[in-house]
Order: sequence, then C-alpha cells, then structure tokens
Amino acid sequence: MLRSVILAAARSQKVERLVETAPISRDVVKRFVAGSGTGEALATTRQLADAGLCITLDNLGEDTLTADQANATKEAYLELLAALGQAGLTAAKNGGGEAVTVATAEVSLKLSALGQAFDEQLAEKNAREICEAAAALGTTVTLDMEDHTTTDSTLDILSRLRRDHPGTGAVLQAYLRRTEGDCRELATAGSRVRLCKGAYKEPEHVAYQAPLEVDKSYVRCMNILMAGEGYPMLATHDPRLIAIAQDRARWFDRSPDEFEFQMLYGIRPEEQTRLARAGHTVRVYVPYGTEWYGYLMRRLAERPANLAFFGRALISK
Ligand code: FDA
Repeated sequence: MLRSVILAAARSQKVERLVETAPISRDVVKRFVAGSGTGEALATTRQLADAGLCITLDNLGEDTLTADQANATKEAYLELLAALGQAGLTAAKNGGGEAVTVATAEVSLKLSALGQAFDEQLAEKNAREICEAAAALGTTVTLDMEDHTTTDSTLDILSRLRRDHPGTGAVLQAYLRRTEGDCRELATAGSRVRLCKGAYKEPEHVAYQAPLEVDKSYVRCMNILMAGEGYPMLATHDPRLIAIAQDRARWFDRSPDEFEFQMLYGIRPEEQTRLARAGHTVRVYVPYGTEWYGYLMRRLAERPANLAFFGRALISK
C-alpha cells in the first residue's frame, strides 16, 4: 500500500516540486546519490575502487522529451567516460581478454533518458555512441530496465548493440512473469545479465505482486543464469538471496570471477565491502546528476526504514 503511494508520488510533478525544494532533500539525496556532476561522480568512483569495489555509474534522468535533452545526456556520458578513462578507472579488473570484460568502472544507461519514449532510433544511436566510447576505453555499458511497456524495445535495442559490442549488459526484472524466458534467451556465452527484483509499479497480469512470489521467481531466474554460459550480475541487497547465490555458485562450480554481486550506492555499504573482502566481485551502482527525484522515490518505496531516515532528516532540520 505504502509502496504504491510512494510510486504514485514518483510520477506526480506536484510532489516532485515539493520534495525538490524541501530543505531536507540535500541530506537525504546525499546518502543515495554521488553528487550532481562528473567531478563528484569521479571522486566517489575513486573512493569505492580504492575500497576494492567495482562501479557502474548512472547519469540520472528518465523523462527525456526532446532530442536536445537526449543529446545532453549522451554528452554527459561521453564526458564521464573520458574522465574515467583518464583516471585509469576503466581498466579491466580481470585483465581483459576473457569472454567477458569485468571493468573496474562501467556505465549504466536508461534508454528513456536517451530518447526512447519519442524516438527509439535516436535512443539506439545515442546508446551506440556511448558503447563505442566505452569500448575504446576497454569498458562496458549496461542498459537499465524500466517499466514493462519498454521491455521489448529495450531488449531489441540490446540485441542490435550486442552485434557490435557483445559485452553490453542487460537487466532483467524477476517480478515480471516473462523473465524466466528472457533469462533462458540471454544465458549465452559472453552475455552479461543483471538480475534484479524490479522497482516499478506493474499490473498483476505482467508482474508478480507478492514479495514471496518475486523472491521465488528471482531464485528460478538465478538458477537459469548460474547454470548458463553467460556472466550473471546478481543485483540485490537481500541477505537470503545473496546466501542462495553463494550456494548456487558452489553447486554450478562458478568461481568468484564468473559472476558478480551488485548493490546500490548508500545501501548496505558494510555488506558490499564484506563480500568484496571475501573474494567476490561487488559492483556498486552509483547514480549522480541533478534529476534524482524518480530514483530517490523508488528507493524510498523499497524500504520503510528509508522513509524513517527521510522523516528523521525532516525533523532534525
Ligand atoms: P528488497 O528491497 O526486497 O530488500 C530485501 C532485503 O534486503 C531487506 O529485507 C533487507 O534485509 C535488505 N535491505 C534492503 N535495503 C536495505 C537497507 N537500506 N539497509 C539494510 N538492509 C536492506 N530495478 C529496475 O527495475 N531496473 C533496473 O535497471 C535496476 N537496476 C538495479 C541495479 C542495481 C545494481 C541494483 C542493486 C538494483 C537495481 N534495481 C533496478 C532495483 C531493484 O529492482 C530493487 O528494487 C532493489 O534492488 C531492491 O530490491 P532488493 O533485491 O534489494 O530486495
């Protein structure tokens, strides 16, 4: 119920204006967002890399409505990649030359931020330019997944990008009923697949609604990916799913460099370093930029404790 209300608020411009202008927002945002520009994103990346973590960076923005906005997002990614390259952060952690490149820092893209809602070809062209820049620096790109109306389009664009850039990663959402099938399609050699629970409000006919059903689907999907030939990227903070993943890795005889864990910046940071110290590859998803509203609201919807954090910040101001 609370989740639905917050996710509805995530789409309300009125609430957006209210939250963006609230004096507390800065403190709350700082916990989940690395800053507004390339410099801050770079500093956070360096800090995480020094702590033994890998990183994927997201330039925040999703409701892009004009070609100029889409172009500006693409330019921001090109600037970021150049800066990461210059700082030596795009190097392959696994030495390169393997079936899959595991770069210290890569980028995550939302096709909606690159124009998908009004011109799919433009979004694909922009994504391709970013993939080319990433490849030139030896790193990779992962395409985030948004609401279910965009899944087919995103997977189509992914398969075309992968013809030239096979390391381009996909995201699959366990809450979607279709996802087991998509996992089977994508569990092939060289394929990087991030598996997450899913963060949008979806109707019953396309998505499991009960948390237990979503978790069970996550495990079925994880089994397919871990049994397959691709590179699973298990994106979850859920201790139970992390333990099951470690068990499956043993069962399917996957060494720690044959899959990775992923978590969001600001969520369970101690667990991130604990897993990395235990020898796992752990990638932190680091959002940065000025358009943090939709991202922040989805994080708040996921966990009441985050709402309490928001409330405490409000009261203490
Ligand atoms: P969930 O939110 O159910 O939490 C499970 C448990 O984890 C909790 O019960 C608690 O034990 C622990 N936990 C969670 N948050 C915690 C906290 N703050 N402190 C302590 N413990 C906590 N979604 C999407 O639709 N498209 C996408 O492209 C992506 N991309 C993406 C990338 C990465 C790297 C991650 C980690 C996630 C995404 N997501 C996403 C978001 C994803 O779909 C999902 O909404 C969140 O990861 C939350 O789900 P969890 O699996 O963490 O479980």
